[in-house]
Amino acid sequence: MQAFVKQSSAPNDVAIRHMPTPSVGERELLVRVQAIGVGIHDGYFHPPIGESPYVIGIEAAGVVTEVGSEVANYDVGERIAFVSAMQPKGGTWAEYAVVADEAPIVRLPEGMPFTQAAAVPVAGSTILRALHALDLQPDESVFIAGASGAIGTLAIQLADARGCHVVASASKKNHDYMIGLGARKTVDYHDSDWPEHVRQWFPTGVDAAIAIQPGTGSSSMAVVRDGGRVVPISGDQFATERGIALRQLPFLLDVHTELVDLMNQIAAGGVRMTIENVYPFARGLEALQKASARHARGKSVLVIP
Ligand SMILES: NC(=O)c1ccc[n+]([C@@H]2O[C@H](COP(=O)([O-])OP(=O)(O)OC[C@H]3O[C@@H](n4cnc5c(N)ncnc54)[C@H](OP(=O)(O)O)[C@@H]3O)[C@@H](O)[C@H]2O)c1
Repeated sequence: MQAFVKQSSAPNDVAIRHMPTPSVGERELLVRVQAIGVGIHDGYFHPPIGESPYVIGIEAAGVVTEVGSEVANYDVGERIAFVSAMQPKGGTWAEYAVVADEAPIVRLPEGMPFTQAAAVPVAGSTILRALHALDLQPDESVFIAGASGAIGTLAIQLADARGCHVVASASKKNHDYMIGLGARKTVDYHDSDWPEHVRQWFPTGVDAAIAIQPGTGSSSMAVVRDGGRVVPISGDQFATERGIALRQLPFLLDVHTELVDLMNQIAAGGVRMTIENVYPFARGLEALQKASARHARGKSVLVIP
């Protein structure tokens, strides 16, 4: 099968190659991959025990073509989207991928295109966990840094749906987009006085911050009220001040039921998952470069005909 592989543990040392189709274990499914969600992590994730070349990618959507002898819940022919992170048998940037039956797997709602479904699992489960970490309440205010990407696109809508006042940060060209998703105010992180703008709207500061981009955890604190809370999505480490609580992403929290619900809402058009670019599989490196620039509006997806 054709696959994108990491040729070494060096970041972004990725090439397209012919690889053997992975074999299915007792508790695994083999999936004919139809669409793949692209993320910046795809260029550098490499499991500690994984050998090179290692098939990259952690999310996809496709059709189950084989199930292991002990798999009870899935059948051949089912359309699924899934996350399969850093497994010894490799990832999702390939014509076929193996996924464990206990992994986060979501059956596609009727009529949902593979391209749309492949964009949801990683960004969706990440923002659902972040919202758990913050426990946002109706009428609270929340600042979202890096809010026009895949995670931000969902973050704005889900926080708005909880009745929160959303202040979203991205470049000016994305302000109308973020307002369209439900943000009530927007700032541009390129303006050095963006924190003052937020303080004009919320003089004592916002209740919480979702710091999506690396480095935004500490800068977001400038607009969080005393005793507020901040969740850094990209693993920022920083000291907090004024009683602000640093909430970590609960990586192990099971958000499967909520992810299924989110997928249904997206399929029904109640929540938007913007797909900025759909690339043919062969142009995977271009998609990876685009993701590495950190300026996607929503998500990019690869398709395999
Ligand atoms: N912890 C997890 O489980 C997990 C899971 C998935 C992803 N992540 C991480 O989450 C991050 C975001 O991923 P994503 O796919 O949603 O979006 P992304 O494509 O990485 O980011 C796009 C967004 O970030 C903004 N941005 C770019 N540079 C910025 C800067 N210097 N300061 C503030 N904002 C900036 C962009 O605005 P403009 O385009 O308008 O400039 C846009 O709103 C990545 O670092 C990724 O590794 C974490």
